[in-house]
Amino acid sequence: MNGSNVLSEHVKTTWLKDYKPYPFKVLEINLFFDIRDEFVMVEQRSMFRKLDNKLSNLVLDAGDYLINEISLNQNLLSQKDYLYGSGKLEIFDVPNEFFLIIKTKFNPLDNKTLSGLYISNGLYCTQCESEGFRQITPFPDRPDVLTKFSTRIQAESTKYPILLSNGNLINEVFLDDGRHECFWEDPFPKPSYLFALVAGNLGLKTDSFTTTSGRNIELRIYAEVSDLERTEYALNSLKNSMKWDEKVFGREYDLDLFMIVAVSHFNHGAMENKGLNIFNTNCILASAETTTDQAFERVEAVVAHEYFHNWSGNRVTCRDWFQLSLKEGFTVFRDAEFSSDMNSRSVKRIQDANLMRTAQFLEDSGPTSHAVQPDSYIEISNFYTITIYEKGAEIVRMLSTLLGEKKFRKGSDLYFSRFDGQAVTIEDFVTCMAEVSGRDLNQFMHWYKFPGTPTLKVKTEYDENNKTLSISLEQIPSSKIKLSSPQFLIPIRLSIIGSETGNQIVKDHLIELVTRKRNIVYENITERPVASVLRGFTAPVRLDYPLTKQDRVAIVRFDDDGVSRWDSMQSLYCEAIKSIVYESTSIESDVIVDLISKLIEKPGDIKDPGGLTEILRVPSESILWEKFQPADPQIIFKARNRLGTILGCELQHLWSRLVDEMIITEDYLPTSEQIGRRSLKAIALSFLVRSSDRSQMLNEQFTNASNLTDRLLYFRLARAHGNAFIANQLSKIFEQSAVANETFELWLSVEASDERTGTLEKLKELAEHPRFSFDNPNRVRAVYRSFAVANTKNFHQDRGYSWLKDRVIELDKINPMMASMMVRPLCRWKLFTETYGNLMLKNLNEIGKLSISNDLFEIISKSISE
Ligand code: BES
Ligand code: ZN
Repeated sequence: MNGSNVLSEHVKTTWLKDYKPYPFKVLEINLFFDIRDEFVMVEQRSMFRKLDNKLSNLVLDAGDYLINEISLNQNLLSQKDYLYGSGKLEIFDVPNEFFLIIKTKFNPLDNKTLSGLYISNGLYCTQCESEGFRQITPFPDRPDVLTKFSTRIQAESTKYPILLSNGNLINEVFLDDGRHECFWEDPFPKPSYLFALVAGNLGLKTDSFTTTSGRNIELRIYAEVSDLERTEYALNSLKNSMKWDEKVFGREYDLDLFMIVAVSHFNHGAMENKGLNIFNTNCILASAETTTDQAFERVEAVVAHEYFHNWSGNRVTCRDWFQLSLKEGFTVFRDAEFSSDMNSRSVKRIQDANLMRTAQFLEDSGPTSHAVQPDSYIEISNFYTITIYEKGAEIVRMLSTLLGEKKFRKGSDLYFSRFDGQAVTIEDFVTCMAEVSGRDLNQFMHWYKFPGTPTLKVKTEYDENNKTLSISLEQIPSSKIKLSSPQFLIPIRLSIIGSETGNQIVKDHLIELVTRKRNIVYENITERPVASVLRGFTAPVRLDYPLTKQDRVAIVRFDDDGVSRWDSMQSLYCEAIKSIVYESTSIESDVIVDLISKLIEKPGDIKDPGGLTEILRVPSESILWEKFQPADPQIIFKARNRLGTILGCELQHLWSRLVDEMIITEDYLPTSEQIGRRSLKAIALSFLVRSSDRSQMLNEQFTNASNLTDRLLYFRLARAHGNAFIANQLSKIFEQSAVANETFELWLSVEASDERTGTLEKLKELAEHPRFSFDNPNRVRAVYRSFAVANTKNFHQDRGYSWLKDRVIELDKINPMMASMMVRPLCRWKLFTETYGNLMLKNLNEIGKLSISNDLFEIISKSISE
């Protein structure tokens, strides 16, 4: 079907079922980095011991570098003693135990992949997960080979005063030639993906934390000197995370030093290297002038996430990369619980349920759908997905729901103590949960093993005469499961309320659906009831639950579960948009107009602005694409906007009142109370600006705004709805005052996503902007992603698609990981009507014909053959 089949003969698929332990033990490794202007020389000294005496050769993973020297037990090897190529270094006839020295040499400046050792703004740094360590030195670069690392780094003292690696600094010596050397030792055995090195000139902010057991930990954040003043929020988040992990999971930090380094070129958000976390600047630096509310929340969450990995990931690590969700799913669950405790639990839960529905369900119904524990991969970096992360976290959440808080904690304690210092599997984790609870969790394992989203079909029937409500629950397997379709264990929280009164009739309780179907009858139901089902999003399933509008309204108005209220509102919105898409005779917005006015009847009604904001959010386009397949993206885009305009006009006075009511007079703080109020103001204003031209007001508010969240809001709304003169003026001011790169990137993304002006010509201008940089992923994401996922009007066209195709091809030459992330918007061609789908497919085929990276090949070939 396409040219890439030729390529597929050369790509290797890795299978879970082929897992074999590594046949050698690495007793220790000592690394020496000699950092020079033109190159870096790496010398590895390591001790190996054979575990299988029948074996004669040592096979190491290797990268592209010059191998200067290999010696075994102090004997220099010659070319005939080893084979180097195709990503491996094989040394022939090794003895049972031996001391190995390998010297490699390369220039990190040539490395634009941002994996392995590379340079970011003159700073040497590493990113080893998943398979970057082999690019530094040959090694069994797999998570189940743990060993003790020590690292000696030598560089010029004035240019590179800061030399860091994992663990504790043992000593620093100054040499006579203006160079210095630092020696680091990490007492905890670790896999190579957790190794890190940093060398450069950075500022430092320090703090300390005393653990429950009374140990004093030194905390350090390294960043550019001019950025240091923006590290305080992260330091506080770190201290909060440390305290929280002790209290909630009983986990103390284990080294005397915890370091974070901020780097500006980074493929991801942050990385949990032992004792030396490395962060994308946009996940660590924060201030009211340069950071939005959402970005503050992200900084807090990412700091916590990486810190929590010290136990869930580092002390107990993964046996192989099929177990990635063992550390990521569990750690996302942990950071979500942390964020819920620090901010609003209900808002966080709605946001996560929304993320699952918009992005994870979409992934799980598409060409790259995979199980949380996949059974094969071509390129592991393609598997850092929302399924591994978010669905993985939802599965852990289900365990905690099923076991209850206390037993879940017992299970986690058992897991950490039993497997401390080991590389284990998802099964090992679940076994601990089974043991402490006495439950058989075999059926539960299906959640990890099968791809796709089950549907939960709910039907209710009220018998007025007998005063009974019968609820039938049925699970329908995803079409992604081809052969035998298993029955999942689905925890479902439900309650029953009066549909007219809102009375609580049956209290919230937990039901376990373990068979295909289950029927439950509730008695003594004396008024017309409505059941609130899957409260708290207790399982990652699609809900097929037809309800009358009246019942949905009752849930939105009276239910006390945020997720249920949000879900009902989403359904009402979807029905209204559907009536516009299919040009029904009447647009079904009256119910919504009426409902929203009831929710906000009187001033002072709003007790939980953050929660209300989530409820008011109109479903994203991607939700609508899935619902109305085959989707016409332009029609859906217009219909969604039309609903916004209708609500904006009909509720104009209410929005206007809300905007005023949500004004904050206190100084800016990123607290959940303030964030809730600002977000409600934002949504009210974004409805309001659709009712009439508010350019003047936006202009004034922009000028008076005290913080970036507000400034961005007024600028964004002026861009999208204001008159061209003011929109351009605010854009110029925003751009010119964006001193911090993170702020400048927000400007880029508003410009690229604006449907009125974000045309291909504009994209060209942005790419030529002196501050744009093709090898900086944050800039690239700000322009490319914003255009492809937030600018439907200009992206969903022949020109838009082929523009993205060209960018992906360019990117693939320098950073394959980024290319394979950026291509994804083209991959969902099957969702769309032929006009759009075929155009997308055409562009995918064109990429597929070229000689491309494995990363890109895997995604493209799976999408083409869907
Ligand atoms: N271990 C990952 C970083 C990573 C991601 C390494 C992909 C290699 C490939 C880290 O713990 C992580 O998950 N970071 C997230 C943020 C987190 C809050 C979910 C990220 O980088 O986006
Ligand atoms: Zn992680």
